[in-house]
Amino acid sequence: MNTTKSKRKSFSQIATFYAVVAAIGGFLFGYDTAVISGAMGFIRDRFDLSAGMLGWMVSSLIVGATIGAASSGVLSDKFGRKKMLIVSAILFVIGSVGSAIPTSVTGLVVARMIGGLGVGMASTLSPLYIAEIAPARNRGRLVSIYQFAVVTGIFVTFFINAAIAGYGDDAWDISSAWRYMLGFGIAPGLIYILLLLFIPETPRWLMKQKQEVRALDILERMNGKEAAKSELHEIMNLKEEEAASIKEVFKPALRLPLLVGVILAILQQITGINAIMYYAPEIFKQTGAGTNAALTQTILVGVVNFVFTLVALWLIDIIGRKALLLIGSVSMTICLFAVGYGFHSGNMSGYLILFFILLYVASFAISFGPVVWVMISELFPTRIRGRATAIASFCLWLADFVVSQTFPMLLEGIGTSATFWMFAVISFIAVIFCIKFVPETKGKSLEQIERLWESKR
Ligand code: GLC
Repeated sequence: MNTTKSKRKSFSQIATFYAVVAAIGGFLFGYDTAVISGAMGFIRDRFDLSAGMLGWMVSSLIVGATIGAASSGVLSDKFGRKKMLIVSAILFVIGSVGSAIPTSVTGLVVARMIGGLGVGMASTLSPLYIAEIAPARNRGRLVSIYQFAVVTGIFVTFFINAAIAGYGDDAWDISSAWRYMLGFGIAPGLIYILLLLFIPETPRWLMKQKQEVRALDILERMNGKEAAKSELHEIMNLKEEEAASIKEVFKPALRLPLLVGVILAILQQITGINAIMYYAPEIFKQTGAGTNAALTQTILVGVVNFVFTLVALWLIDIIGRKALLLIGSVSMTICLFAVGYGFHSGNMSGYLILFFILLYVASFAISFGPVVWVMISELFPTRIRGRATAIASFCLWLADFVVSQTFPMLLEGIGTSATFWMFAVISFIAVIFCIKFVPETKGKSLEQIERLWESKR
């Protein structure tokens, strides 16, 4: 009994190791999300950028990521998840080197796009990889490690930014501080490439390639001999159809999971999280905070995001995806209304607005942050998983692009309070969507989830 337990533990330690390695892709994503806010001012001064060019320099990474996410499905179905993860890490390293050395803003934009290709690919493939190797009972937790890596990247980088900015212009050559910030991405990128060499291809992808012996070997390593056999059986039992063409993804049988995945991905972004992540210091300044206080408050955002993602990691396989989405979106709705009201009335204290923003970030961190990445990696049948996950994450990046581009314009056009109220209404729509359309997938094997859709038809 005891040996079975301890065996089970060491097996799941192996799966956890694979998951942690794959999840480093999320760290690169988070790193880049945050680093640009620190480097932005230096780059603007160095190249004398207009507001439009500055926005383009920031979002060039997102454009690359959108393309990377879109192409990752077909490529990983063809060449395998692991190989394409390695390619994504190489692209990230090239992007980091390229961002540190350019002498023109065009060079910087091109380098950020190349890095973005890597970030976008990894954003699809890391969660997908983990979902395909994880045992059903802790798949939610393991895939959430990806989101945990994203927020760790954001958190660590907010500190690095603050430390580097703290040196001031005297001790640092202005033209090079941002080069260090952006170039530092080489380190996690190289570590990622190295560690990826130690993880195997996923058994589910190998089965699709009819490589049963290799698949069984990996399943045994992770789950032990007995469990491996039954899992292999389950994967085989699913009526095997030829690899799906992209057209098949849109057939009626697959339309529902695809729609749910895509809408969840879009909702994750258009409920406004990255308006906070990218523009936090600006928002806090509007509440009356000075530059230093605004930076400290931004670090608080990072801390809260980090801590509450840990809470999600703990809860996701216990109370389930749907429950977390519901609690989170209800609370996000309330907080966003309150923030909007705070800006509207003008007599709410800056600290109270800060409190509601932090509570909003906490609510996102226990729900839409991790759960969406988990669900878009587990909702789809194996034969279309690569492509369908890629479509969902492509839509996620596109929505991210729209929010980050339009947020400054919305602030100017309709004002801060109306902008937050708009996010509040969208969060409320998210509540209803989750109640009506999102199935609970906690504890189900990927094959059971596949049958769940069949029964819904
Ligand atoms: C999720 C979102 C990402 C956001 C992050 C914040 O990973 O996909 O866009 O920046 O959460 O924690």
